[in-house]
Amino acid sequence: MDRLQLLDLATSLARDAGALALQMRSGVEQLAPKSSPTDAVTAADQAVERLLVDGIRAARPNDGILGEEGASDEGTSGVRWVIDPIDGTVNYLYGLTGWAVSVGVEVAGQAVAGAVFAPSRSELWQGALGQGATLNGQPLRCTQVTELARALVATGFGYDARRRAAQARLLPHLLPAVRDIRREGAGALDLCSVAAGRVDAYFEQGLSPWDLCAGGLIAREAGARIEGLRGNAAGSDLVLAAGPGVFAELHDLLAAHDADADPLI
Ligand code: IPD
Ligand code: CA
Ligand code: CA
Repeated sequence: MDRLQLLDLATSLARDAGALALQMRSGVEQLAPKSSPTDAVTAADQAVERLLVDGIRAARPNDGILGEEGASDEGTSGVRWVIDPIDGTVNYLYGLTGWAVSVGVEVAGQAVAGAVFAPSRSELWQGALGQGATLNGQPLRCTQVTELARALVATGFGYDARRRAAQARLLPHLLPAVRDIRREGAGALDLCSVAAGRVDAYFEQGLSPWDLCAGGLIAREAGARIEGLRGNAAGSDLVLAAGPGVFAELHDLLAAHDADADPLI
C-alpha cells in the first residue's frame, strides 16, 4: 500500500471538499442540533461528507469509511478513511476562519496518511507515516520547549454540559502552571498547530476518531508525542499532543487531576 498515493488522494479530496464548504458558507444556517443544543450541524457538513464519500468510493471501492455525519462502512481492503467534513463547525457557522476538512487514512488501524485543509486560511497540512509533515509544502517541526511554565497550551471543550463542567474544573490547576491557554474550536487544527509550533501542546477529552486521525499523524510526524494518560493510547478518554520537552510535565499535571476520567458515567 503506497502511503504517498493515499496522501495524494486524501489531499485532492480535502481540497475539493474545502472548496465546496467555502462555496456553501454564505447564508449558512444551523440545522437541528445534534448531541446537545450547542452541537451544530449545517447542510454543508452533510454535503461535504457526501462529496468525500463519493470520491473515496469512486477511487477505492473496497475501502472502509468512518465519517462524522454518519458514513460507516467496514470495507474489505484493510484501508479505512476517517473523515470530518468540517471540523470546527461552530467557527464555520459564525464566519470565523478556524475550520477545516480532515481526511485521514488508516491501514490495519494505524494512521498512515492525513490531509487537513483550512480553505479560509489557504492552509493545507499533510502527513504520511515515516515521511514527515508539511504546511503548504514546508516541513514542520513541533517546539522544543522544556518547561510547562513557558508552554502555550491549546485545549477544547466537548458539547455535553457535564463534560464541560469537568473540563472547567481542571482549568484553575492548569492556568497558573502554563504560559497561557488557547481554544481554537477545531481539534484537527489544534493538532496541526502543535505540528507547526503555533502552540507547544494540546489536550482534549472526548475527541472522536475523525478529529484525531489526520491531525494526530501530522503532529506525530512533526516530532510531537500523541498519547493518552498513564501509557494509554490517545483516544476519546484523552488526547495529549506535545513536544517531547514538555510532554511529561503536562502529562503529570493532567494525570494528577484525572483529566481522562469520564464525566458522563
Ligand atoms: C469539534 C471541534 C472542537 C472540539 C470538539 C469537537 P466539530 O468538532 O473539533 O474544537 O472541542 O470536541 O467535537 O463538531 O466542529 O466537528
Ligand atoms: Ca470534529
Ligand atoms: Ca465535524
